[in-house]
Amino acid sequence: MLSRLANRTSDIAPFFVMELLGRAKQLEMQGRDIIHMEIGEPDFATPQIVVDAGIRRLQTGDIKYTPAAGLPELRQKIADYYQTRYAVTVDKGRIFVTPGASGAFLLALAASVNPGDEIVMADPCYPCNSNFIKLFEGKAITLPVDATTNYQLTAELIKRQWTPSTKGVLIASPSNPTGTLIEPDEFKQCIELVNECGGCFYSDEIYHGLVYGKHAPTALEYSDNAFVINSFSKYFGMTGWRIGWLIVPYDFVEAAEKLAQNIFIATPTLSQYAALAAFDEQNLEELESRRAEFAVRRDFLYNALLQLGFEIPAKPDGAFYIYANCAKFTKDSYEFALEFLEAEGVAITPGIDFGSFKANEHLRFAYTTSIGRIAEAMQRLEQFINKNKNKG
Ligand SMILES: Cc1ncc(COP(=O)(O)O)c(C=O)c1O
Repeated sequence: MLSRLANRTSDIAPFFVMELLGRAKQLEMQGRDIIHMEIGEPDFATPQIVVDAGIRRLQTGDIKYTPAAGLPELRQKIADYYQTRYAVTVDKGRIFVTPGASGAFLLALAASVNPGDEIVMADPCYPCNSNFIKLFEGKAITLPVDATTNYQLTAELIKRQWTPSTKGVLIASPSNPTGTLIEPDEFKQCIELVNECGGCFYSDEIYHGLVYGKHAPTALEYSDNAFVINSFSKYFGMTGWRIGWLIVPYDFVEAAEKLAQNIFIATPTLSQYAALAAFDEQNLEELESRRAEFAVRRDFLYNALLQLGFEIPAKPDGAFYIYANCAKFTKDSYEFALEFLEAEGVAITPGIDFGSFKANEHLRFAYTTSIGRIAEAMQRLEQFINKNKNKG
C-alpha cells in the first residue's frame, strides 16, 4: 500500500528547541521563573508607528488582495531604502513582497531549483533554509565552517565543492546561529565565483540592520545577479506580521511573478500597509535605539560567557545570538540544555538545531531579553556549572 505521508517529511528534522520550549512552558505553568534565551525574535514590541498604520488600514475594512508582488508603494519604499542605506539602485520591478524571509526563500527556490540540484551552504546554519531545498527535491550541501572563516563560506571552499550538479550557494550574513559576518572582500569573491560558474547566489540578509560597529554589505553592492532575501521580522520588529521581501535577478522576474501569484496570491494586506510606515524617519530612529540596546547586551553576554569559561573564538558582529563552545563542560550540548532548563530554568538552544559539525559542543544564546534577565541567567549558569563540577 502507498504511504499516505510524503517521503520528504522524513527528510526534514524537527526543531529540538521546540521540545525545550514545550518543557519551558510546562515549567512556567508550574510557577517556575523561566528565562528565555532560546527565542529568535526581538523582545521589543512592534513599533507603535507601524501598529498605528496597521490600525488605520484595518479601520477602513478595505483588506483586499494586493498585486502578487506587493503594493507598488511598498516596493518603491524598499527600493528607496536600498538607495539610502547601501547607495544601491534597485529596480522596484525586481522586488517581491513575501510572507517573511521564509516566503522569500521559498519563492527564490521555487523559481530556481530542479530536483537533484545542489545548493551549498555553511554548517552551522539556519536549518529551515536547507529544509526548503529538500522540499524542492534539491540537495543541501552543508560545508563545515569554524571561527577561522568567521563561520562563513569562502570562495575557496565553494570552488573546491563545485560539481556539475551545483546550482548555487547560500550565504547568510550575519549568520544564525553565530551572528558572524562574512568579510566584504570574501563576499564579493564568492558572488563573482558563483556568477562565473553560472550558478545562483542566494543572500540571506534577514539580520541586516542588527549589525554592531561594522557595515554589512548587501550582495547587490557587488552584483545584480543575486537573490536577496530580507524581512521585516527582525530589525523592524515584525515577526508575527509575516512580511519580508525578495529581490530577484532580472531574468527571474517573470517566473517569480507567476509563482508568487500561485503560491501566495499576495502577502497579507494589513501587514503590507503597516510596513509602509516601517521606513519612516521616526521609526528608523526607534530601531536604531533598539539596535544600540542589542549591542550593549551582546557585549555583556559575550564577556559573561567568556568569564564562565565558554569559548567564543569569533566575536559576533550582528544578529542577536552568541554561539558558544561548551566542550569544557559537556560532550552533549543538547543534554546540557535540557538539564540546565530543568535545574535552573533557563532555556537555550543546542547546536544540533543548526547542523552536525561540532553541534554537540555548541549552544546558542539569544540576547532577546533584558540585560537584567541576561545577568540573572548568567548567575544561574555559573551555579549550574559549579554544581556539576562538584558532582563530577
Ligand atoms: C537566517 C534566517 N533566515 C530566515 C529566517 C525566517 O524569518 P522570517 O520568515 O520570520 O522573515 C530566520 C528566522 O529566524 C533566520 O534566522
